[in-house]
Amino acid sequence: MPLMSFSATLTTAPIAAAERTAILADPGFGRFFTDHMATGEWSSEQGWHDLRVRPLEPFAMHPGAGVLHYGQEIFEGLKAYRHADGSIHLFRPDRNAARFARSAKRLAMPELPPELFLAGVEALVRADAEWVPPHGDEASLYLRPIQFASETFLGVRPSARATFCVVGSPSGAYFPGGVTGIKLWVTTKYTRAAEGGTGDIKCGGNYAGSLLAQTEAREQGCDQVMYTSGPAENRVLEEAGTMNLMLVTADGQLLTPGLGTILEGVTRASVLEIAAEHGLTAVEREIPLSELLDGLRSGHVTEVFASGTAAVITPITGLAGDGFDFVVGAGVPGPKATALREHLLGIQTGDLPDTRGWVRRVC
Ligand code: COI
Repeated sequence: MPLMSFSATLTTAPIAAAERTAILADPGFGRFFTDHMATGEWSSEQGWHDLRVRPLEPFAMHPGAGVLHYGQEIFEGLKAYRHADGSIHLFRPDRNAARFARSAKRLAMPELPPELFLAGVEALVRADAEWVPPHGDEASLYLRPIQFASETFLGVRPSARATFCVVGSPSGAYFPGGVTGIKLWVTTKYTRAAEGGTGDIKCGGNYAGSLLAQTEAREQGCDQVMYTSGPAENRVLEEAGTMNLMLVTADGQLLTPGLGTILEGVTRASVLEIAAEHGLTAVEREIPLSELLDGLRSGHVTEVFASGTAAVITPITGLAGDGFDFVVGAGVPGPKATALREHLLGIQTGDLPDTRGWVRRVC
């Protein structure tokens, strides 16, 4: 295949510098978008083509487009950080590229070659470099690649057309109280995934199905939902609404549910890799809910936290469900979660050495 790249047509009407500076000072999460988007098209006749960075604008979509009917849609989330010298870096984008292709395959969509995924993300970051927040805290430019079925056709079969797009959204903490700790609601009413399903890929449908569970969690006074799977008498931990789960034990283990029906998080993988540097032995296995609850009662589980691109590392300081309501540890972020978070953010922001080759310079 000839080398393809993204052409760039820059906007003549960017958001004013003063407005952009005000947004970057307090971006929140997912509220604001940059001036451009990267897009590409796929058709069964032409393959991937029309790769462009262009001014951000709404899609014109036929009401018969496949994504609107059968939910053929996948996405990714990754971040660009500004280092102290002003340069801009992505964190392990190759992992997102590979997962994007896996997600596409599972939804019977064309797999975007990882080099095109990276080219699209990087071309957008270059066009919107001024939208990457200043170095200094955890603020970053969150990048959201998506791919969806764009053929106009109502038959139930894989779409013969797909659209790829990357948008950028400056972001601060995902949870307003993220660093101070959040409370999870363990739902027994809803599940997020089943074996052979789509729990291990990143598709919009997984999150659509999670919204009612998230509403239930809110009604219970919690910040987010925690899923379990398996029969009522032997429930095992899955993941939280938008994050993977991790437990720290008094004997120095870092426990996390094994892969299968959960998302293979980039942050999850990174935390497991640096665990030993924090005196923790990383263990991936099935974790019964009863083991977590017993561990919280006895003090064997000293910390619980969640990991994700948007959430980085978010301490879980409370856990409630049918018939239980625990304060985790001392009810404040634990030392291991705090140290792991600082370590990861240090690598991402360039304040700590990147000994594993995880950060990729864009410009
Ligand atoms: C992420 O952490 O990047 C996610 O995609 C989770 C969520 C915001 C949907």
